[in-house]
Amino acid sequence: MAGFFITIEGIDGSGKSTQARLLRDKLVEIGHDVILTREPGGSKGAEEIRSLLLQGNTDRWSAETEILLFTAARRDHVERLIEPALIADQTVICDRFVDSTRIYQGYAHHNLRKLVDKLHNLMIFRNPDLTILIDIDPTIGLKRSFARSNHETRFENLGTAKQSIMRNNFLKLANDFPDRFVVFDGERDFGIIAKDIFSYVTKFNATQTTAKTHNG
Ligand code: TMP
Repeated sequence: MAGFFITIEGIDGSGKSTQARLLRDKLVEIGHDVILTREPGGSKGAEEIRSLLLQGNTDRWSAETEILLFTAARRDHVERLIEPALIADQTVICDRFVDSTRIYQGYAHHNLRKLVDKLHNLMIFRNPDLTILIDIDPTIGLKRSFARSNHETRFENLGTAKQSIMRNNFLKLANDFPDRFVVFDGERDFGIIAKDIFSYVTKFNATQTTAKTHNG
């Protein structure tokens, strides 16, 4: 799995952070060199931007400013952590990446999806090899995420109706990028989901490696 980049996506409370940790643990157990990271954040500068983004009122930033801040945080994260790790042949698992910006900022207020894509192509370039989408009913998701009760609630505060639109947009996005997206039902027991994900990831990687070998 050397140099393999996996992202995990889903609405708030989907259980993706738990699944990211479990996947990391299982891959390490079978001998892979894995880095687990998250967005917004993952590097020192990006973690500083994270608090600007996740704390305060929902209307703290305009949608455009928010896209710039997420992209700035991502650029630092990719430059300082993700690219060096992939070049060093490590496997990187990232809890959220550009698909979250496509959904939360790209579709949230006006249609800014094209702007998100443009900035991504200009400043980030890197795309995941595999994206795991954990799909869940937003009423269950929000219950879970408020139970964690920390102060990073700017986006959870958007409420069930908006989270529901985001859920549907994530599913549409999975159809836009069928080569790298796989969707898992997040309403099942977390141990069963973890098993399914692990089995999918190891098979997916084996297919990719074979394809790369065949293509030289
Ligand atoms: P987390 O709960 O997975 O740590 O994510 C924090 C919040 O940040 C979550 O509500 C979604 C939001 N977010 C965006 O709005 N755009 C982005 O690009 C990313 C990475 C996260």
